[in-house]
Amino acid sequence: MIKLNYKNVTEQVIGEQYGLNIEKEFNEYAPKIQSIIMDLNLRKDKPGQWLQWMNLGYNEETVWYVKEYAAMVEGRFDNILVLGIGGSALGGIAVTEALLKPYWNLLSTSDRGNQPRIFFLDNIDPDQINALLNMLDLRRTLVNVITKSGSTAETMSQFMIIKDRMQQLLGDDYRKNIVATTDKQSGILRQIANEEGYKTFVVPDDVGGRFSVFSAVGLVPFALVGIDIDEIVEGVKIMDLALKNTDIWKNIAAQNALIHYLMDTKKGHYLSVMMPYSSRLKYVSDWYVQLWAESLGKEVDKNGNVVNVGPTPIKALGATDQHSQIQLYNEGKHDKIINFIRVEEFDTHLEIPKIFDCTGVNYLGGKSINELINAEADSTAVALADFKRPNLTISLPKVNAYYLSQLFYMLEVQTAIAGELYNINTFNQPGVEQAKNYTYALMGRAGYEESRETLTCKIGR
Ligand code: PA5
Repeated sequence: MIKLNYKNVTEQVIGEQYGLNIEKEFNEYAPKIQSIIMDLNLRKDKPGQWLQWMNLGYNEETVWYVKEYAAMVEGRFDNILVLGIGGSALGGIAVTEALLKPYWNLLSTSDRGNQPRIFFLDNIDPDQINALLNMLDLRRTLVNVITKSGSTAETMSQFMIIKDRMQQLLGDDYRKNIVATTDKQSGILRQIANEEGYKTFVVPDDVGGRFSVFSAVGLVPFALVGIDIDEIVEGVKIMDLALKNTDIWKNIAAQNALIHYLMDTKKGHYLSVMMPYSSRLKYVSDWYVQLWAESLGKEVDKNGNVVNVGPTPIKALGATDQHSQIQLYNEGKHDKIINFIRVEEFDTHLEIPKIFDCTGVNYLGGKSINELINAEADSTAVALADFKRPNLTISLPKVNAYYLSQLFYMLEVQTAIAGELYNINTFNQPGVEQAKNYTYALMGRAGYEESRETLTCKIGR
């Protein structure tokens, strides 16, 4: 299992002013945490609670259908192109970057084990889209368009451009190059998919975008590039069973949620930095940033009181950002808690050759890059603690499907528990919806005419 080490947030290590008396806090909050975990598990099957993501470790049927589809299209495509944004893309990007061989799309077909290349288009930059479409042979590209609402302007506009080009190239056969992942019955994409006869997968009810990585949203692209989705789901299941434990002393998601909550509300450490020491885990930080920000940044609490809460997540990468952000984290404002992710065993063991005798670099010769990166992770954690900066380390035995899905699921449960501690609705995103609606208005969607006039005035053009 993955592990959490919170020693460097304790007052024994970083002092009373910034550190927590963990024993006192855990014991004091134990009943509350127990009732939160029991309540989440009791509510998870009730419609409208947005907790169906807690069942995704037990979703054998979807896994079966996804594997069946991946086997059916195997060998037919050189490229998978995923269209989606936010929760419909970030989990996919993070998992494929972590689990596929580095530089996957640049490898030869045989080095990729005959699996296709994979591209995620999660923005609407015309230059980027154009360049990608000029590069891909659309006849040999399978497009997975993912949108739960079925109407997000960014995703649907990309889809309209690509569908049009595919149809020009392939005629009616273009349909075979499209797989849509969307709501089972509502939304424009569902309607189009039904009318045009696309293969579809369902974003289950009561699973929000940022909690959807283990639904068909993630599983379809993962299976299409040969990632072992059984292992992924197994990791989720094992972690779910572990996190059903209502004892805070034995539940790492509850521990990290409470530590972050107290650091924010008692110690003024409201910035949460996610800093994996592994390039393959770089995009886990992007996924975490969305999960933490959209879930916990809220104007009102569950009782309707204006609270304007939410710790701010920040992404960083070890060891790279030791030469960029760490100066600030060591000596700047006392307002951050740093989450390190440490990989115990990398797939590769890379020796540093003994080629120079000069003092200053000869200490490196004969060691490995593996030792160096973990020495840097450890020394940065200790240095931060010396500067009285709270930091935690999550350790992954290896970067593989089983441990990675444990990590993701743990962070999801942590977010849900934190949301309960803040007493807010973790699963809505009114701030995102507002911007989406303004876009619809500005782009002339029917029904948004009134907003359009006010907006045009406010923009001042
Ligand atoms: O987490 C969320 O709910 C959002 O980030 C959505 O995933 C994002 O806005 C995209 O929405 P949709 O999947 O409906 O296109």
